Amino acid sequence: MRERAWDLCLLLLLALGVRGLPPPCESQIYCHGELLHQVQMAKLYPDDKQFVDMSLTSAPGQVLQHFHELASTHNHSIPRRQLQAFLQEHFRAVGQELQPWTPEDWKDSPRFLQKISDPKLRVWAEQLHQLWKKLGKKVKPEFLQHPERSSLIYSQHPFVVPGGRFLEFYYWDSYWVMEGLLLSEMPQTVKGMLQNFLDLVRVYGHVPNGARVYYLQRSQPPLLTLMMDRYVAYTNDTAFLRDSVGVLASELDFWAENRSISVLLGERSYVLNRYHVPYGGPRPESYSKDAELAGSLPEGDPEALWAELKAGAESGWDFSSRWLVGGPDPDLLSSIRTSKLVPVDLNAFLCQAEELLSNFYARLGNDSQARKYRRLRDQRLAALTAVLWDEEKGAWFDYDLENGKKNLEFYPSNLAPLWAGCFSDPSVVDKALSYLEDSQILTYQYGIPTSLRKTGQQWDLPNAWAPLQDLVIRGLAKSPAPRAQEVAFQLAQNWIQTTFAVYSRESAMYEKYDISNGGQPGGGGEYEVQEGFGWTNGVVLMLLDRYGDRLRSGAPTAVLEFQCLAAALLLSLLPQ
Ligand SMILES: *[C@@H]1O[C@H](CO)[C@@H](O)[C@H](O)[C@H]1NC(C)=O
Ligand SMILES: *[C@@H]1O[C@H](CO)[C@@H](O)[C@H](O)[C@H]1NC(C)=O
Ligand SMILES: *[C@@H]1O[C@H](CO)[C@@H](O)[C@H](O)[C@H]1NC(C)=O
Ligand SMILES: *[C@@H]1O[C@H](CO)[C@@H](O)[C@H](O)[C@H]1NC(C)=O
Repeated sequence: MRERAWDLCLLLLLALGVRGLPPPCESQIYCHGELLHQVQMAKLYPDDKQFVDMSLTSAPGQVLQHFHELASTHNHSIPRRQLQAFLQEHFRAVGQELQPWTPEDWKDSPRFLQKISDPKLRVWAEQLHQLWKKLGKKVKPEFLQHPERSSLIYSQHPFVVPGGRFLEFYYWDSYWVMEGLLLSEMPQTVKGMLQNFLDLVRVYGHVPNGARVYYLQRSQPPLLTLMMDRYVAYTNDTAFLRDSVGVLASELDFWAENRSISVLLGERSYVLNRYHVPYGGPRPESYSKDAELAGSLPEGDPEALWAELKAGAESGWDFSSRWLVGGPDPDLLSSIRTSKLVPVDLNAFLCQAEELLSNFYARLGNDSQARKYRRLRDQRLAALTAVLWDEEKGAWFDYDLENGKKNLEFYPSNLAPLWAGCFSDPSVVDKALSYLEDSQILTYQYGIPTSLRKTGQQWDLPNAWAPLQDLVIRGLAKSPAPRAQEVAFQLAQNWIQTTFAVYSRESAMYEKYDISNGGQPGGGGEYEVQEGFGWTNGVVLMLLDRYGDRLRSGAPTAVLEFQCLAAALLLSLLPQ
């Protein structure tokens, strides 16, 4: 019955869609308005996300009415105690809409575990495989009685979340989660997650950053078509592909219509994509930080700053010196200018999506659509080469639209076209390898750094992130050259040692790692480092699957050599 109600609701929304998509979040509690402003600026909680994740005890209209009475009683500056009492009465603790869920297709001993020869790593992989049960969540059925009382977006199917403060599912995180789930032989869970994403595209025209109304204004790196590809490769579920292919195409339309930009180089113009969120206002889940940052500007337009912060969040790299380059002070977040850059990774992801969609249509026998997406992919490949590739450096670089030049700083995203298979000249792999050597990236023993700048932002030195390790490792591993293969393996070994060493000490997997000091949970940015953790688990499982016969749990070689020397010295001192 409830599922019926949901289908009806979807149909209704789709019918409305004919007249235009619903506006991206009008909630006067979770997205804009005085209530949000007063509560967040009072900083009642250590993390602004907490308030916008709390659900209401009564209808939003009623809560707002009580709030307006309270506000006018206190001439719009409500004392802290009264505000707290108001929240106590009208809001519930976070997480009440969700219930734990053990995936139905979870089973003991998936086959890939047998490929792992180091016994400690195998036990670890078993424990990570167990974690899917902890990270599985489902929306409580009673949620549907009052969906307007929460910021959560309803999902019909259960899902796996990142963990920590991230109780809902996220867009690009889910790709690496799904890779892990497929290794754990859980295609049903993956299919449910895919269905949730497809429903979001059907209703909103795009995949929001995460499943909360306050994320509706922005998306995240577009990996939905790739998720479908992995699922179909695993299951051969052509019927599901046939039902969904049009929705995948409409997601790409969103990126083409709302996020493309043309770049004029010489006589020619090229169409590429950028992250761009044309909405002002602070991000509801980081409201006080965004408001204060705008307050710190001596002059300038707060709305423009907020739109750039949202675009930074859309990139998944929130935040990074990558989006601060070319601004007044590249160490200050207020310099952010995300939408002025044409990102390598975004365009590589879209190039891959166009290729996969072309393959899907060919498989389904729709040759005209297959040709259309093949052509789009070829155009993008030409644009990537003309605008972003740098022959001298041997890598791709983000293009600065305002300054008309590439940003030559190092980021792992500079190699994303290798990972995405978005290149035509096979010699680029060897050039990219030399680029990594020239940038001294291979001297980092504990993981590939996010950038070479230390700004205190979380997508910068000294943090390293799982998805970026994957971009570089699998990018290099595509090469037939033994040296590229060997470097890919060494990078995998480094990352496994770091994450395993931290796990051995803390019994936890983290969202990011600090690689400056032998490998620690990461820090910096806007919130405390989170445990869980979806994509980190996914990438570790992928590496253990691929290199399980060679990976070792032990300390890095330099340390081993030292220990060996110390032991030899001790032995030599012992009496004969
Ligand atoms: C209410 O606040 C406004 C602005 O802060 C102030 O000008 C006004 O005098 C106040 N009214 C009362 C009744 O206190
Ligand atoms: C999927 O289908 C193709 C052709 O229909 C077949 O060659 C392949 O073996 C199938 N794969 C799986 C995993 O069933
Ligand atoms: C995309 O652009 C169209 C047309 O400009 C607009 O109606 C729609 O709301 C935009 N979608 C989003 C999610 O911004
Ligand atoms: C191919 O797909 C397009 C777009 O969905 C559709 O209009 C067309 O009828 C399809 N052609 C075939 C042969 O299925």
